[in-house]
Amino acid sequence: MLASSLLQYLKQLEAKGTTHVPIEDNARAVLRELYTRGSARRPPPSGNTSPSSPPTSATLQAAVGNSSAEKIADLAAQAQSWEPARSLGTLRDTLVFSVGNPDADLMLVGEAPGYQEELKREPFVGPAGQKLDQILKAMGLSRSHVYLSNVCKFRPATRNQTTNNRKPSPREMEVSLPFLKAEIEVVKPRVIVALGATAAQGLLESTASVGQLRESWHQFQGIPLRVTYHPSYLLRQEDGLQEKRKVWEDMLAVMEKLGFTITDKQRSYFQK
Ligand code: URA
Repeated sequence: MLASSLLQYLKQLEAKGTTHVPIEDNARAVLRELYTRGSARRPPPSGNTSPSSPPTSATLQAAVGNSSAEKIADLAAQAQSWEPARSLGTLRDTLVFSVGNPDADLMLVGEAPGYQEELKREPFVGPAGQKLDQILKAMGLSRSHVYLSNVCKFRPATRNQTTNNRKPSPREMEVSLPFLKAEIEVVKPRVIVALGATAAQGLLESTASVGQLRESWHQFQGIPLRVTYHPSYLLRQEDGLQEKRKVWEDMLAVMEKLGFTITDKQRSYFQK
């Protein structure tokens, strides 16, 4: 009943020329639930789901929308009430999904939101994010050119938590991974960068260090993936010229892969 009145109301708005309706996260979650219940009654899409595996609240639905931005918004709405993450009981409530350009050639993936990110509901807004912005600037890019996401979509919880953060566990990353895969299908980046060991390990199901994984190309969902140090690692280095150079060499490799023109000045950054 609620669903049909809502549909009628939306159709009236559409008839008057409205193309977008602002909606709060809570309402989005309710709509998602209605949609999920509705699709559970629909016959499965051909070849996708068998009658013995009906969609459940833990089945990620194909992203719906006319544009990449709408599809990402749809995935974020699904993540809000994602049972596998919620039922762990080790993650906080606020969803921090992604930011940036959903049609970007370059996607960067971090580990999990921290205190600052949770407050703003946006990945990489704290000091590590500012460092990342500097790296992007040196590449001739800004946040609006790239798509930024995390392997874990909620801030990992700790006892008596204030501003302290912790890394996501392998299980916490695993339950978020269907979203990252779906995001990649929507954004279709030409290159992915894993920022830091946790993200790299979550994506590549590896226990190797950044030192072991960087300097070569890996693949994730068929897309070239480069591993580099997390920006917060750079912030922790006192002098750090060598580490900055390593990150910069990784980014030069990414720029080459993307066919960027690299200036002599850019090539020589962070060299003694
Ligand atoms: N570190 C991350 O890995 N991701 C964020 O969003 C913020 C800090």
